[in-house]
Amino acid sequence: MKGKDLLSSADLSRDDVERLFRAAALMKAHPERFAGSLSGKSAALIFEKPSLRTRVTFEAGVFTMGGLPIYLPHEEHHLGEREAVRDVARNLERWVSLIVARVFSHQVLVEMADNARIPVINALSDAEHPCQALADLFTLYERRSDPASWTLAFVGDGNNVCVSLMLMAATWGAHFRCANPEGYRVPAAAEAEARRRAALSGGTVEVHVDPVKAVAGVAAVYTDVWASMGQEDEAAQRERIFAPYQLNAALLSHAGRGALAMHCLPAHRGMEITDEVMDGPTSVVYDQAENRLHVQKAAMHALVHGLSGVV
Ligand code: CP
Ligand code: NVA
Repeated sequence: MKGKDLLSSADLSRDDVERLFRAAALMKAHPERFAGSLSGKSAALIFEKPSLRTRVTFEAGVFTMGGLPIYLPHEEHHLGEREAVRDVARNLERWVSLIVARVFSHQVLVEMADNARIPVINALSDAEHPCQALADLFTLYERRSDPASWTLAFVGDGNNVCVSLMLMAATWGAHFRCANPEGYRVPAAAEAEARRRAALSGGTVEVHVDPVKAVAGVAAVYTDVWASMGQEDEAAQRERIFAPYQLNAALLSHAGRGALAMHCLPAHRGMEITDEVMDGPTSVVYDQAENRLHVQKAAMHALVHGLSGVV
């Protein structure tokens, strides 16, 4: 993985995912062993949208590996307005070792990666959120490392989080189902790529409209907000359309016994997930959030140094 970009879950092979999980487990158990991993190096963190988890975990992650995180909020660079995206990339590569970017348009990430000789990490775009998917599946891996033992269902919008999770689950070899309302399915190209990867890994991919069918008997049920950042003006219409997809006790009762409840956060309590489920005994939402730190540290180490000698 050394020198590569992480823009999509599809940038990783099954071997990459397994090695990243093993490295993340090692970093979680023994963070001190990686305290000098980014010593003398800096990472630019470009954010066009708000963030709690992603910003804090990347800043803390770079710092605890001995490096300097440089946070660049939208007001400071106005990507593509004050300066062309390719020029931002061609400047940053002269000074720092990594670019981490949260953008509205995935195309901006692609342009940045095409113009920077240093690794670019997708910290969320309109199309994907691969760091989230790594943390989510690592949260399952910590409980049972065999992907074939996991059947998970995503209910709600076929958005960036759903796409990255579907692709990552298919790559890893898990059994993935999603339920999305008509008009809100994952893009056809992403679904086709997930099916292609599942055929290679031994995983499966199912796409449903009915949330009850999708969650029947599964070991984990995942949801995300109904209106993503940038879609706020569609919120009222989406609330009506997505209401049957709420992750509540009734829906969870159709899943397997003790099924985990998952959410990438931030959650809109009482909308896509109820308090009862989010604060319930099988909720792992804060484990997912914690694991963002560990998987991203593993990913940064992998992209800057490779993982040989680590796992
Ligand atoms: N899950 C996630 O990416 O959270 P933030 O938007 O707070 O970074
Ligand atoms: N789908 C959400 C995820 C937030 C982490 C969004 O894009 O706003």
